[in-house]
Amino acid sequence: MNIGIIGSGGREHSLCFKLKESSVVNKIFCFPGNAGTGLIAENINLDTSDFKKIHKTCDEKNIELIIVGPEKPLVEGIVEYFKKTKIKIFGPDKVSAQLEGSKTFTKKLCKKYKIPTSNFEIFNEEKLALNYIKSLNYPVVVKADGLASGKGVYICKNESDAKFAVQEIFNGRFGKADCVLIEEFLDGEEMSYFIISDGITHKFFQTAQDHKRVGENDTGKNTGGMGAYSPSRLYSKELDKKINEKIIKPTMSGIKDLGTTYCGFLYIGLMIINNDPYLIEFNVRMGDPECQTILPMLETDFGKIVLACCDKKLNNIEIKWKEKKSVCIVLCSSGYPDDYQKNIKINQLKNIKLNKDEYLFHAGTKAENEDYIAVGGRVLNVVTTTKDFKQSKEQALKILNDIDWKEGFFRKDIAYKVA
Ligand code: AMP
Ligand code: GLY
Repeated sequence: MNIGIIGSGGREHSLCFKLKESSVVNKIFCFPGNAGTGLIAENINLDTSDFKKIHKTCDEKNIELIIVGPEKPLVEGIVEYFKKTKIKIFGPDKVSAQLEGSKTFTKKLCKKYKIPTSNFEIFNEEKLALNYIKSLNYPVVVKADGLASGKGVYICKNESDAKFAVQEIFNGRFGKADCVLIEEFLDGEEMSYFIISDGITHKFFQTAQDHKRVGENDTGKNTGGMGAYSPSRLYSKELDKKINEKIIKPTMSGIKDLGTTYCGFLYIGLMIINNDPYLIEFNVRMGDPECQTILPMLETDFGKIVLACCDKKLNNIEIKWKEKKSVCIVLCSSGYPDDYQKNIKINQLKNIKLNKDEYLFHAGTKAENEDYIAVGGRVLNVVTTTKDFKQSKEQALKILNDIDWKEGFFRKDIAYKVA
């Protein structure tokens, strides 16, 4: 079977890499991919919101199944489009994608189905929001509704921070804002929990802890993710049971009550407080860089898992994992997450030799002649999976030091809670 992958980040390179190992996958095409996917698949450069063009290319290339990496095409309805064709598609539909696309949708679902989350209020008028923040105990969290690429969330220490956040959001910093959410600050430790679902059955797809802040010791601006480790140190069978009972089951019921079922990955962003899970957010896709961190530990044929999901036969598959500790460190272009340098050669990349259990996933790169050029903010992901976190981290750092890219930077403290 030929497969198409939508997206161009480190997540998509790791999906591509894992599918390349699959016994049911023949050729892989990436829309549009990056220099890394270009080594193992055919990159096709087109607008990923242009479903008709993707469809035409699928017909030309005999692509039978599409995997959607990022949230945007899902929120735009790519699944509905391809459901009307013969091509299978792995990902949730537009109704389900609201779990990520609209924070107010998710908060209302939490209220209706009693899913534990922070207390919140929604305001569609700036004046009312500004009035409300006068009465609060701080810290609080102010959020823009809609997709904001991991930005649009403000942890506010006092009223003046909250005023700034509300005004920025209503001034359209993250696109047209119809409302803001103001919610209680949850004081605990974060854990990302993943499942894969075919709409009938869902299965555990690992846990991770990512580091979203740009600076060491989790300081500075929020980013897409500077690195991650898996599994999360908080994971236990007992916690797993609570997550299933209190969060996943009622969410799936809520989606069913809206007349659809959830197919694809679901990323459950949790705050764990006294061993109890609270929902921070849903993402309707794998995380980036969590995907790169997790997939190398997957033992079961990934192509078969995805195909079983599309055919609603996930129940027939046992998903097995290697007993490893995985660390991923992201190499970024200097300046990220603000304006960063673009179009710079990464000299040493061609000379890097990887050992078993070491992986290099590209993100914002392109190939030019014989060279690799950095074109994005997050450029490369170095992943190592060994028996313990400390060794994985040391090996990843060594590879990054060997890449020796002067225009880049990375956090040296990824996974500091476990290594
Ligand atoms: P989100 O985009 O909703 O995942 O928020 C981004 C980050 O902000 C999360 O990963 C948390 O670190 C933090 N955050 C969001 N909501 C809360 C909350 N209610 N309490 C504490 N931290 C939060
Ligand atoms: N690493 C966070 C995300 O993928 O949303």
